[in-house]
Amino acid sequence: MSKVRVNLKERSYDVLIGKGMLGRLPRLAKGRRIVIITDYTVGALYGKKLSKKLGACLLQLPPGEITKSIAGTSVIYDKLIELGINRDGLIIALGGGVIGDLAGFTAGTYLRGINIIQVPTTLLAMVDAAIGGKTAINHPKGKNLIGVFHQPKQVVVDIDTLNTLPSRELKGGLAEVIKYGFIKDPGILKMLSGNPQVNSNFWIKLITRCAAIKAEVVSKDERETTGYRMILNFGHTIGHAIEAVGGFKKFSHGEAVGLGMLAAAKISGKREAEAKLVMLLKALKLPTTVKLKVKDLLLALKLDKKARSGKVRFVLPVKIGQVTIKDNVPEAKVVSVLKELGCS
Ligand SMILES: NC(=O)c1ccc[n+]([C@@H]2O[C@H](COP(=O)([O-])OP(=O)(O)OC[C@H]3O[C@@H](n4cnc5c(N)ncnc54)[C@H](O)[C@@H]3O)[C@@H](O)[C@H]2O)c1
Ligand SMILES: [Zn+2]
Repeated sequence: MSKVRVNLKERSYDVLIGKGMLGRLPRLAKGRRIVIITDYTVGALYGKKLSKKLGACLLQLPPGEITKSIAGTSVIYDKLIELGINRDGLIIALGGGVIGDLAGFTAGTYLRGINIIQVPTTLLAMVDAAIGGKTAINHPKGKNLIGVFHQPKQVVVDIDTLNTLPSRELKGGLAEVIKYGFIKDPGILKMLSGNPQVNSNFWIKLITRCAAIKAEVVSKDERETTGYRMILNFGHTIGHAIEAVGGFKKFSHGEAVGLGMLAAAKISGKREAEAKLVMLLKALKLPTTVKLKVKDLLLALKLDKKARSGKVRFVLPVKIGQVTIKDNVPEAKVVSVLKELGCS
């Protein structure tokens, strides 16, 4: 098992990463009234067994982004109230980023905040969503519009849960892993290159390195006030636009972020970064071309909430392992890069 500390003074906590971690949860959560929040898929795979072991109540919701809603939150509040859960209670969020965000938001608002342990079961949630205390639900008008910062008491990553993760989800998570390599730690990219032996040790090492970067960024900029946390958005500016224009169906988040990183590398003109990225995306069979309309993407870029004071912010590579933030990229440059990627 490995351990990454998230340093946030009195809100500090550990991310524990290892094999068989679900089996260790009873010790970590002992003595509390526990409600496990999960979706039906993860519930059937892991939730039922875990709830029996913990003597916990299991609340299962439909899988998918649609559940990350006010209605989803209501279902959880109702259950917590029905069970008489007070501030000594504990929520365990067992699932991907959808469940982590939804359960995190509910835990952060119920009784003005109760304890939560995040138990991510997708690679994306293990390296990103479960760490850092950002929680949110969607509004019909937009994603993640309603939220609260609420740090978990602990994050427990059981890499064995990756064995059942569909390959498209795994690849999406790997796009975020590549992101960490480009913003901070080229060693991550080395781990992914060649023909790595993908065993438990590989996953523990890889997730630990990514979690360490997320933890460091969050420790320095917990509430996104210094701008430092913005580096985590590498690939997400154009990535979000691609996701939106594709109707959130054509491209998964990870596929769109991969393309967004490629666009950012092209904008930066750093050929070495671009070549490395193309090599990695191709090796993972992630897309390197996108056939959408340039004008639709430009509109989506402008609508993105990350566009501040009319400016679109880009996180661009300086070299492999270092990025910078630019809000003065000429629109003509963006257009030519989108065309290079296959847009018309
Ligand atoms: N709070 C943050 O900082 C943050 C960061 C990044 C993303 N997010 C949010 O995370 C969400 C995306 O998360 P995600 O990619 O994990 O998607 P997800 O939670 O929808 O999970 C993807 C699918 O995989 C299934 N699944 C999960 N674990 C499984 C397992 N071990 N075996 C088999 N199936 C499994 C789920 O049932 C679901 O159908 C988005 O809503 C996004 O906004 C939040
Ligand atoms: Zn992302």
